[in-house]
Amino acid sequence: MSTHTQKRSWAEPYKMKMVELLHMTTKAQRVKAIKAAGFNTFQLKSEDVYIDLLTDSGTSAMSDRQWAGLITGDEAYAGSRNFYHLEAAVRQFYGYRHVIPTHQGRGAENILSKVMIKPGDVIPGNMYFTTTRLHQELAGGIFADIIIDEAHDPANLHPFKGNVDMNKLDALVKKHGARKIPYVSIATNVNMAGGQPISLENLRELRAYTRERGIQIIHDMTRVAENAYFIQQREPGYGDMSIRDIVKAICDCTDGATMSAKKDALVNIGGFLALNDLDLFEEARSLVVVYEGLDTYGGLAGRDMEAIAIGIAESVDDLHQHARVGQVEYLGQKMMDFGIPIVKPVGGHGVFLDASAFLPHLSQDEFPAQTLASEIYIDSGVRTMERGIVSAGRDAQGRNYYPRLELVRFTIPRRVYTQAHMDVVAESTAAVWEKRNRIKGLKMVYEPKYLRFFQARFEKLG
Ligand code: F0G
Repeated sequence: MSTHTQKRSWAEPYKMKMVELLHMTTKAQRVKAIKAAGFNTFQLKSEDVYIDLLTDSGTSAMSDRQWAGLITGDEAYAGSRNFYHLEAAVRQFYGYRHVIPTHQGRGAENILSKVMIKPGDVIPGNMYFTTTRLHQELAGGIFADIIIDEAHDPANLHPFKGNVDMNKLDALVKKHGARKIPYVSIATNVNMAGGQPISLENLRELRAYTRERGIQIIHDMTRVAENAYFIQQREPGYGDMSIRDIVKAICDCTDGATMSAKKDALVNIGGFLALNDLDLFEEARSLVVVYEGLDTYGGLAGRDMEAIAIGIAESVDDLHQHARVGQVEYLGQKMMDFGIPIVKPVGGHGVFLDASAFLPHLSQDEFPAQTLASEIYIDSGVRTMERGIVSAGRDAQGRNYYPRLELVRFTIPRRVYTQAHMDVVAESTAAVWEKRNRIKGLKMVYEPKYLRFFQARFEKLG
């Protein structure tokens, strides 16, 4: 199947039967809106946005089958039928034994971190994610980045920039001892690296290494099917394997998972924690009642769980992923044709502009990526987001993290926009690229305590 689809153009394996009209604004309106938003695209009103590429989280279009599933919601407080459908889907497609629904991914991260991390523990991971690391730190843990160096270089063409550097992991194990490392945190299709995959070869090596030392692997499986698509396309030996089977093979290398179903699983809200170990599961199940809700709904309505169960099955379809990642690649190629610097290879869920290369006259303290996101919004009403120094935040001692990647993310919602929208986005970015030398940076004038990128406010320098 893959060799066949590889040779031909992708097309959406669906047709539209309902549309949502978009809002057009004038440039004067957008200048006013971005100032009112403190130059933070998270603070814009959706009504002031034309094409919304802020995130692929909770922004997908559900299928008619998912919408039909909502009607079958069993809204019992306990033992909803839809919970059992969700549990069955997780077991069937991912192979994890025990499932606890949560309101979204970070709900699962909270429970997992509380159950597994003791103060002073070290949690190695293939690059940080904002909420994941914060929950690890709030539980007293210390995150350690063990992703390969190539992942920090936007121009490096390594096909699996999500891979773990086994030497970095081994050095941590030697320094702290395996008992200080409750688990290795592995994301599939690493978000902060630009939507970059990890290979099955690397995962299997990691599995063998951690098994010998009694260290678990917890999988952030938010975008596992996109990762599976890249394995099918790039990793020798997997060209004829279905995405469905590759997803299962990935999960088989790990002991449990946190999931934000708002991405891969094509729903607007929801997530879960999945664990193979019965004792850990029982502890997590008793905690979920404190933070999310009873363990058969975890902060979700019955109908939400039904939509996730159906979305999981749709997400592992080969044609779906080919079109999904194909659209992202299409936008990435357009950007490259304009000569715009982006993270390469193009990732799975979005195109990431290299803001340091785009605005080399700005220092990282002048927030190049934040600046660029606001300039693109002003040009066309396209909303993107910062993934650089603002997102990276501060360490436990209050010092700014200075990530090597200073990126603007154009995140593509699944099944929502067309190729023509991608053309408009690329042309708008090209217009900003033309005037890049005249763009001034920003200063931060308000900084919230946690996950500052969501609510921070800025003013224009000069
Ligand atoms: N892990 C990854 C890799 C994520 O991308 C996200 C969310 C989460 C965990 C947390 O899940 O939002 O359901 O609580 N990422 C969104 C984004 C917010 O825009 O990248 P959540």
